[in-house]
Amino acid sequence: GKNYKIAVIAGDGIGKEVVPEGQRVVEAAARRFGFSVDWTEFDWNCDYYARHGRMMPEDGVEQVRGADAIFLGAVGWPTVPDHISTWDLILKLRRELGLYVALRPARLLKGIVSPLAGRTAKDIDFVIVRENSEGEYSAAGGLLYEGTSEEMVIQESVFSKRAIDRILRYAFDLARTRRKKVSLATKSNGIKIAMPYWDARFAAIAREYPDVAHDKFHIDILTAHFVVHPDWFDVVVGSNLFGDILSDLGPAVAGSIGIAPSGNIDPSRTNPSMFEPVHGSAPDIAGQGIANPIGQIWAAAMMLEHLGELEAAKAIETAIESVIGGNGPRTRDLGGNAATVEAGKAIAEALA
Ligand code: NAD
Ligand code: IPM
Ligand code: MN
Repeated sequence: GKNYKIAVIAGDGIGKEVVPEGQRVVEAAARRFGFSVDWTEFDWNCDYYARHGRMMPEDGVEQVRGADAIFLGAVGWPTVPDHISTWDLILKLRRELGLYVALRPARLLKGIVSPLAGRTAKDIDFVIVRENSEGEYSAAGGLLYEGTSEEMVIQESVFSKRAIDRILRYAFDLARTRRKKVSLATKSNGIKIAMPYWDARFAAIAREYPDVAHDKFHIDILTAHFVVHPDWFDVVVGSNLFGDILSDLGPAVAGSIGIAPSGNIDPSRTNPSMFEPVHGSAPDIAGQGIANPIGQIWAAAMMLEHLGELEAAKAIETAIESVIGGNGPRTRDLGGNAATVEAGKAIAEALA
């Protein structure tokens, strides 16, 4: 069987608790499907920052560039300002490795009860395609007139045609493999320059895909539709910030932020793609061993799918559903009282 070299960055907080469960499940899949994995662990996190004054070594990106994929937990702890821990590690990896697609499915799994009354698995199954390289996440701008009554900050958003078009095409290509519909998150009624431009590029790219239906919604009403009409959506595409917001809301309507996976993808496959849960380091529950490992485990399934281990990926999703749907151990966010490790072990056993 094949051997995969995976760079592991567990990170902070519950990242350190859920990543080993993801690895446990990948190992179980490797045994069953006949491949092997070499894990290389990197201790880059906020403790590393305390020792070195940075989140990773200067050549950190080069250290992981040769891996087949990167498996990341979560980054961020109250000892380091969030904009430093993220820009120095997670956002840096996403940008410098060209991982311009954030692929974030929201699917109501069998056995999970949606907080939306009466909704079942067939009603909630969509994918958020988030622009992952630029936009509102920008370091352009600065503080002006400091100390005067006119003090202000200017923060510029940057939207390139290249980045918009490539993410839109990715969304339409993905829709062709699903239910053939793309919805755009926009705000062209208020964000006067950038969002009418997004609308225009969306209309232009949509013409290349006459077989795919498309519609667009301003981000404000789109959040409401996610709650009231989740069944309307198949592929939802948006800017970096809109995609970020929607990708916490989507999983919340599908049961829990604790189950949601994410792929940071380089579609050209020049660099390793990076797989992580959507959630963060959860300082409020870290250290208690109660975090839900499913987001990390599902992210592992996305990683194996990306690597071409399609059967293993599918089997992990089935194992998650069999444990959750079959009265297996579930963590508190899903209404149970199981520990992280119990939930992870049950999924690994279901796979074996
Ligand atoms: P968070 O996702 O860490 O936590 C939000 C809430 O969801 C908390 O109540 C938490 O307990 C709960 N939660 C999250 N994951 C869970 C899980 N697996 N099981 C059960 N409950 C879970 O978001 P936050 O509080 O906004 O951020 C905390 C830190 O994480 C910050 O430093 C932030 O910058 C960082 N963060 C990192 C990433 C990442 O590394 N990809 C993503 C989001 C936030
Ligand atoms: C996510 C996170 C990150 C983001 C933070 C930690 C910078 O919220 O992966 O969704 O906004 O991209
Ligand atoms: Mn987020």
